[in-house]
Amino acid sequence: MEKLKKTCQTCGDEERMGEGEEKMEEVLKTLPMEKLPEGIHLSFYEGHWYRSTFMHGIIPFQQHFKAQDTDLILVTFPKSGTTWLKALAFTIANRNNYPVSESPLLTTNPHSLVYFLDFEIYGKSPILKLEDLPSPRVLATHMPHSALPTSIKDSNCRVVYLCRNPLDMFISYRHFVAKFSNKPFDPSLIEESFDMFCRGVSSYGPFWDHVLEYWKASQERQNKVLFLKYEDMKEDPISHLKVLAKFMGLPFSVEEESQGVIEEVLKLCSFDNLKDLEVNTNETNRNGHPYSMFFRKAEVGDWANYLTPSMLERMNKLMEEKFAGSGLNFKFS
Ligand code: A3P
Repeated sequence: MEKLKKTCQTCGDEERMGEGEEKMEEVLKTLPMEKLPEGIHLSFYEGHWYRSTFMHGIIPFQQHFKAQDTDLILVTFPKSGTTWLKALAFTIANRNNYPVSESPLLTTNPHSLVYFLDFEIYGKSPILKLEDLPSPRVLATHMPHSALPTSIKDSNCRVVYLCRNPLDMFISYRHFVAKFSNKPFDPSLIEESFDMFCRGVSSYGPFWDHVLEYWKASQERQNKVLFLKYEDMKEDPISHLKVLAKFMGLPFSVEEESQGVIEEVLKLCSFDNLKDLEVNTNETNRNGHPYSMFFRKAEVGDWANYLTPSMLERMNKLMEEKFAGSGLNFKFS
């Protein structure tokens, strides 16, 4: 009975919180686990690998979250350009509230403007209450499509998925984890991590399933799921920004286009601009991690400085096998 009296701090749901806690306690003990060479523990839950510490938010998120038709959910595989997508979507959604010269992005990191549902809003110490967010809500997650709360799939809310070629994303993650753990980047760990990644063992992995699920969803529900690639956005940011704004139901007007608003938004959210802002060079998030860890090189093809030709060959074979017949591919340079 004690459990049924508890209330979810995020959505105020009473009964289901009890069920969620029960299920979580049960499953956490029994889940298969692996440890990445960098020391991060992953748990295998319903076909996907998650950071073990995130499980406390993932299950309640799956059980409690009630999507609204007006929600925009940004989804990425970690290190695929989440920071960029959050900045762009936030700016598009709020461009009538703030002129670009007064954007909150100038003083606030994108991750403190658009929060992750699975480990921040539903995490152990919820960062905010969903009901406090103004509508339309812009929210984020790294969760695979098949693991999303049913209300996201059943409602008319929109989902934007951004992915990146797995080699650059893999290297970006290694650097991120080193910074996050306050350790120097250790290239000697790459071989083992790469093997694990190829076997599907990575945070929110297997990577292939993640990308394919959203790829298929975007083809089946074109108005509801937008599929973007980091490399394409780097190559042609203007067209992609227009596509994103249109998908969000907030297309740029002819007047805005002629006034150069698209270029302004892109400049504001660009890697070069964001990385040098005071907030992103010198400030930390609520867990004491520097915001600078989200900004490194932002290049396509940096993997070539770290991975061997045989690793590339292994990845190419895997991609051929996993993406066969899907029409999905990635640019590596
Ligand atoms: P690199 O490590 O290759 O430089 P995420 O935002 O999903 O955590 O991904 C981080 C990657 O996106 C990092 O890649 C980072 O440098 C890059 N990045 C951060 N901000 C960006 C921006 N505004 N535009 C393009 N890339 C950005």
